[in-house]
Amino acid sequence: MYRTHNCGELCKKDIGKEVVLSGWIQKKRNLGSLCFIDIRDYFGITQLIFSKNLIEKFFLGKEFLIKIQGKVVERISKNNNIPTGEIEISVSQIEILNSSLPTPFTIENQTDGNEEIRMKYRYLDIRRNPIKNNLIIRHNLALEIRNFLSQNGFLEIETPVLINYTPEGARSFVVPSRTHVGKFYALAQSPQLFKQLLMIGGIDKYFQIVKCFRDEDARSDRQIEFTQIDCEMSFVEVDDVLIFFENFIKHLFRRIKNIQLESFPCISYSDAMKMYGTDSPDIRFGMPFIELNNLVQKKNISFLKEQELIIGIKVPKCHKNHDQMNSLFKKIENPNIFWIQYLSNKTLLSSNPDFFSEEIITIFINHFQAVPGDLLFISYGKRKNTRKTLGKVRLEIANHLNLKNSKIFKPLWVTDLPLLEWDERSKRYKSVHHPFTSPKKEDIHLLEKYPENIRSQSYDLIINGIEIGSGSIRIHNQNIQNLIFKHLGLSAKEIESEFGFFIKSFEYGTPPHGGIAFGLDRLINLLEGNDDIKNFIAFPKSNYGEDLMTKAPSFLKKEKLKELHLR
Ligand code: AMO
Repeated sequence: MYRTHNCGELCKKDIGKEVVLSGWIQKKRNLGSLCFIDIRDYFGITQLIFSKNLIEKFFLGKEFLIKIQGKVVERISKNNNIPTGEIEISVSQIEILNSSLPTPFTIENQTDGNEEIRMKYRYLDIRRNPIKNNLIIRHNLALEIRNFLSQNGFLEIETPVLINYTPEGARSFVVPSRTHVGKFYALAQSPQLFKQLLMIGGIDKYFQIVKCFRDEDARSDRQIEFTQIDCEMSFVEVDDVLIFFENFIKHLFRRIKNIQLESFPCISYSDAMKMYGTDSPDIRFGMPFIELNNLVQKKNISFLKEQELIIGIKVPKCHKNHDQMNSLFKKIENPNIFWIQYLSNKTLLSSNPDFFSEEIITIFINHFQAVPGDLLFISYGKRKNTRKTLGKVRLEIANHLNLKNSKIFKPLWVTDLPLLEWDERSKRYKSVHHPFTSPKKEDIHLLEKYPENIRSQSYDLIINGIEIGSGSIRIHNQNIQNLIFKHLGLSAKEIESEFGFFIKSFEYGTPPHGGIAFGLDRLINLLEGNDDIKNFIAFPKSNYGEDLMTKAPSFLKKEKLKELHLR
């Protein structure tokens, strides 16, 4: 028998019991005739006490796996920080189950190991509480998701991973076929087409917690292999999806974090761009853009008058010292931005005193209804760039002034994204979401002549500036789907060869349907206020797409390449 109890459960009520425990050595202290050892397993840590005579016979290093037998006794100096802190085991027998090399980094909550070494020895990293607990949270979240969706009539269905290559979206990973000479599979970037086919197959509501594969550069919120909570519903319109999934997200926050989220505001893509300069605004710290074109015209402010767009933001109560302000101003230095500082002593400072007179500065101060302590930033120039620049400045300010509180969650829906955008490089339209997204009914007449003006029936869930989910109502009309493919530059032949089966399915009574997919890794990362999704993935890839432990990707032997018809 390896154990009668685990290392996290013995307490005062067990005093006097004879027990067997197994665990890894976390810490060892020799105190003359006695030796204290902490052993650790999945459940916790228990302190052991050995007589010198017993322990002398063994060499015991950190991470050795030992089995002991002994009696539970009350500790003299108690540790209130752990559940087993009132007892220790007076050991009578010990057996080494396995020895261990010195570990390449300390197996402690605060480790000395850098990311690279921790990834290389991920199994040791998983022994540490922060990573182990993250995997437990991930499990609990997945369980809540499955329960909630199942209770609401969603059926979990697996869809294929090895699918046909299609050119849309991100790059796909491809897999050579051994039995079909010269042919390839692609790894699914998402189950998009299959979930739609399930709706055509009469499944009313589908979900899947599913691995997706995208050959793109990894970052702190992006992996080449990641997990989606993928969902689809029949007979729904945009509001049905938004209402249901707002409740879903609220439920998860309540169950996992005990947080009651407020109603999610819903703003259009075009308003998001106008108010925040981005399609994924972080609304934790206010500061929406104020348009100043009318003011500038009315007050006849020369130079600014000629600009396409003039917008500004007010940072309220910005009581930072001189050095802090200077370092912020340095960071955001940009010829198309100027700032006005209304100091507590009512002095007015600005970045361009030679350019803008005190009179002009006062005009802005009055317009923004600024009070002493407030700070204004004004951006001008071409419409698109001006918004983008001020959007970045807004985030920089939030970082600099610590306005991004990771304990506060502010979700919002961004809807009505453009259906298509012009890609200058390939000289053709690209889908903003994906080619199966339905245009808004009121914009369908623009489809033939002004495709770039069409808004789509799409929605993104943004929480604290991160895109957590994205979805749309799908096209269920064959003609519209064909037209979209044509706008995307696909010839009739390509449509037939790549999507023929899909277009065909539209001929058999396709129901109206729509859905969404959430990034599971991103959602947990956000819930836990972390800053890298790797911490919530058992075996993540590095930012260069490598598995540093197994050394994937790797070269193949000549014979293998030959077998796959690659040589
Ligand atoms: P989309 O491509 O927007 O939509 O993906 C949905 C959500 O998945 C997450 N996500 C990622 N997470 C980690 N690493 C990545 N590389 C990565 N890429 C995406 C994001 C994102 O919001 N089929 C559509 C969904 C639909 O229309 O129903 C889709 O895949 O959180």
